Amino acid sequence: MKRRKLAIIGAGNVGGTTAQRLVERGLAEELVLLDIDHDLARGKALDLAESAPIFGYDTQIRGTNDYAETEGSDLVVITSGVPRKPGMSRDDLLSTNAKIVKSVSEQVAARSPQAVIIVVSNPLDAMTYVAYKVTRFPRERVIGMAGVLDSARMAAFIAQELRVSVETVRAIVMGGHGDSMIPLPRYTTVGGVPVMDFIPKIRLDVIIQRTRDGGGEIVKLLKTGSAYYAPSAAIAEMVEAILRDKKKVLPCAALCKGEYGIQDLFVGVPVKLGHGGMEAIMEFRLASEEEAGLRKSADAVKELCAIVDRMI
Ligand code: NAI
Ligand code: 2OP
Repeated sequence: MKRRKLAIIGAGNVGGTTAQRLVERGLAEELVLLDIDHDLARGKALDLAESAPIFGYDTQIRGTNDYAETEGSDLVVITSGVPRKPGMSRDDLLSTNAKIVKSVSEQVAARSPQAVIIVVSNPLDAMTYVAYKVTRFPRERVIGMAGVLDSARMAAFIAQELRVSVETVRAIVMGGHGDSMIPLPRYTTVGGVPVMDFIPKIRLDVIIQRTRDGGGEIVKLLKTGSAYYAPSAAIAEMVEAILRDKKKVLPCAALCKGEYGIQDLFVGVPVKLGHGGMEAIMEFRLASEEEAGLRKSADAVKELCAIVDRMI
């Protein structure tokens, strides 16, 4: 039987912690960590290999700067790029990261033409679009990670507010991974009951805004980079859903072709994740103000894609 091979491009904070989560969950038989900084990739791969006897995983882990090592990967996570510094928006990263994601995507497509790609680099929706355009993969095999992270942040804040287990909270955030993202309290539940029955609107509005600002809040505290524990946890959940063919419904950036009235743009929507990657976009009826918010968010993504279209 073919060994399950994963590649992570970018061995920085998100790439390194993602590698750790994937091997500790036993999700890869072979894992390649690639970075332009060869020693960084080799160092982190070696460090992870040395923790294997303690955790008991037999994953073959390699660090490299050579795409030949990624040949035939089943799934590739793209985390290469620069993160935000305090005061920067995700959109400020556009031109630098578009160039990086373009060159990475070309090499990934050449070496692993059958892979499912999960894009993480920011600005997320536009970078996922770059990977889709450059690889020419079908839309099912190019997915962006953001909604799982944003929803987890919202769920964490709700659990803290109500002092309940995070396991009982289900939250959903749709739209682009930026200031116009759309936390959806109407579809957020605690123990199966709508959250609005437990938290007054005035407090819920604070939680919604904190969710929108969640990435920036961490950047301000870390000062030298952005979040990576929650992002890598979100990536691991998506990878697991795909590799174990779970058909899990999670909010991810997917290429909409008319779904929710959005055409040819990557925006965060609920999707079914399984062996085929993004197997379906799950459509449901939004209230008019939610739909308007989603359109506005899609318009913001469209502006960024128009810029990257001139660069790729
Ligand atoms: P980092 O700076 O710790 O790591 C980035 C790594 O990419 C560095 O090691 C760098 O050497 C490498 N790199 C740069 N150019 C490369 C190239 N051409 N080929 C291969 N490797 C290359 O940054 P961090 O914190 O890991 O974040 C990575 C990206 O992910 C950033 O753009 C950040 O904004 C984004 N991000 C997105 C999230 C999301 O929700 N979608 C969440 C967290 C981070
Ligand atoms: C975040 O939301 C940096 O986009 C990343 O933490």
